Amino acid sequence: MEKNFKRTLVTTALPYANGPVHIGHLAGVYVPADIYVRYLRLKGEEVLFIGGSDEHGVPITIKAKAEGVTPQDIVDRYHNIIKDSFGELGISFDVYGRTTSETHRKMASDFFRRLYDKGEFVEKSSEQLYDEQAGQFLADRYVTGTCPHCGNEHAYGDQCEACGTSLNATDLINPRSAITGNVPVMRETSHWYLPLDKWEPRLREWILEEHKEWKPNVYGQCKSWLDLGLQPRAVSRDLDWGISVPVEGAEGKVLYVWFDAPIGYISNTVDCVGDDWTKWWKDPETRMLHFIGKDNIVFHCIVFPAMLMADGTYNLPDNVPANEFLNLEDDKISTSRNWAVWLHEYLRELPGKQDTLRYVLTANAPETKDNNFTWKDFQTRNNSELVAILGNFINRAVVLAGKYYDGKVPEAGEFTDFDRATMDEIARAVAAVGENLDNFKFREALREAMNVARAGNKYLADSEPWKLAKTDPERVGTILNLALQICADLAVVFEPFLPFMSEKLCRMLGLESLGWDMAGRFDLLPAGRQLGEVELLFEKIEDSTVEFQVNKLLEAKKQNQLAAWKPAPVKENVDFPTYEKLDIRVGRVLECEKVKKADKLLRFLIDDGMEKRTIVSGIAKHYAPEDLIGKEVCFIANFEPRKLKGIVSEGMILSAEDADGRLVVIGPQGEVAPGSTVG
Ligand code: 2FM
Ligand code: ZN
Repeated sequence: MEKNFKRTLVTTALPYANGPVHIGHLAGVYVPADIYVRYLRLKGEEVLFIGGSDEHGVPITIKAKAEGVTPQDIVDRYHNIIKDSFGELGISFDVYGRTTSETHRKMASDFFRRLYDKGEFVEKSSEQLYDEQAGQFLADRYVTGTCPHCGNEHAYGDQCEACGTSLNATDLINPRSAITGNVPVMRETSHWYLPLDKWEPRLREWILEEHKEWKPNVYGQCKSWLDLGLQPRAVSRDLDWGISVPVEGAEGKVLYVWFDAPIGYISNTVDCVGDDWTKWWKDPETRMLHFIGKDNIVFHCIVFPAMLMADGTYNLPDNVPANEFLNLEDDKISTSRNWAVWLHEYLRELPGKQDTLRYVLTANAPETKDNNFTWKDFQTRNNSELVAILGNFINRAVVLAGKYYDGKVPEAGEFTDFDRATMDEIARAVAAVGENLDNFKFREALREAMNVARAGNKYLADSEPWKLAKTDPERVGTILNLALQICADLAVVFEPFLPFMSEKLCRMLGLESLGWDMAGRFDLLPAGRQLGEVELLFEKIEDSTVEFQVNKLLEAKKQNQLAAWKPAPVKENVDFPTYEKLDIRVGRVLECEKVKKADKLLRFLIDDGMEKRTIVSGIAKHYAPEDLIGKEVCFIANFEPRKLKGIVSEGMILSAEDADGRLVVIGPQGEVAPGSTVG
């Protein structure tokens, strides 16, 4: 059912302020939301773009405990990092608030109280997990255990990240406290529950009947939830970090983070527009969109709408264009394993390359399925698309205008059929950009925007104005006029995607303001206009930049392996006579060389004090042979001889294997004569 809305409220998931944001957050939520909002603004629509940090909940307290600081320290630190990095990437929030603000505390507290007074909650006592050593109840991420649905042994008390199921802590099999590692006990506590079951019929009707147009991934997830049947959900927690439950006798209890966080969208609206906030939340002519990642679908399509229904005075979201996940170099992005590209680091290490990141994340957006980011693809898309197609076309057009028309927009003469065919293709592509954006198809919209630049490139390449300068100057003027008009179109269509490039391009073309209705027109630049200075829009990304980033990830992987490394368990005991059977000795390396056609093997010639013996050892990947010559090594002298690559090996050189698989040859610490026994 198409409705006519007057304005659009766009919210983006409030990231937990327990760490910086990474490319997964950006690709799934913030970049598409920003593209959409910029597009609406260009269309002259009334729009409000809400962001902010989620500063309550267990993820914050866990981080604080790990660092030995207060939760407030944590959220102050990360809120600022996140806010600044979003700003630098051009995410154009109208407000970026925080859920520890006083506005929010009051808004969330009043919201709870209204529902409480209306009798919308059920208060229930039940047995919950309790850590006796820590002296606290365990919920959400304070408890880990086995997921009852998929068997993942590392599921959290609120969600299993392996299968995506939302859980209650008591659902976990073999629960363990994340604070002490202890097995929790059961202890009675009382909480307020939102009876989702009561809202199930309305939610069913609203989503399954009235919003069949939602993305299949979102609709499908909602349907499976609804088909499983909704249960009452606790909206309070026994914690000392959060918004106090505004009910007498509720000391020590706070609002569940997923109750207060979405209300943050409302509080941030209040902080942005003051008393006007009701227009954005309660006027049925306002359309509300939530941009989120797939792990947040249930909260935005079921829990928050049920809260809004229980209140009864709010609009419900019109659409929730949730995305799937972005992987990094074929592996799941993980904060704890530091397997991520962090936005604040990207901005520092690749300064001025905001648009490249926005471009690559949109071109690879995980819209319908999980997708993958690789640094190689990042480089290729930058060099062969942004530089070679978009940047190249614009550069050629303005440089040619500089060369033949002193940097002025030339007069256009008669357009030919060829010119008109180019114009038609551009008008088609521009219309397709808009249509795809209207339907939250950002990848396809970007592809069509690039088609405008492709058409421009082809136009210049085929019309070859540089060959006509002497014979047909009027035609050159027409071609360059049209090429520059196409540049102006590019400034418009790319503004939502690449705002930094668009701003530079506007400066070059002398365009003061942009509107979506300008896109696809060919009269945006008056003849005679003096163009601004030519600026470089994109530069090539060198192999060394990519190598640096890939090495950084490999280092993170190594650190993880080291952190996870445990020495192998000790083998079964042996008695002294068994031990004595091994004859370990010191030998001096006389010769050492690689074994042909065996990349792991080195051939040693050892002075064992009596004679020279040959030993073949699998350490070629860890040593340059010449570095071992003259060294003393320990070897097993009575090891049964065996043939390796046709060489009889008469012993075994001892080496230790490090956590990262590196082999280090064992030798005496001081001077020892070859042939000395070791034991
Ligand atoms: O998943 C998360 O990172 C949550 N902090 C998202 C909250 S969205 C909204 F409800 F605030
Ligand atoms: Zn699971």
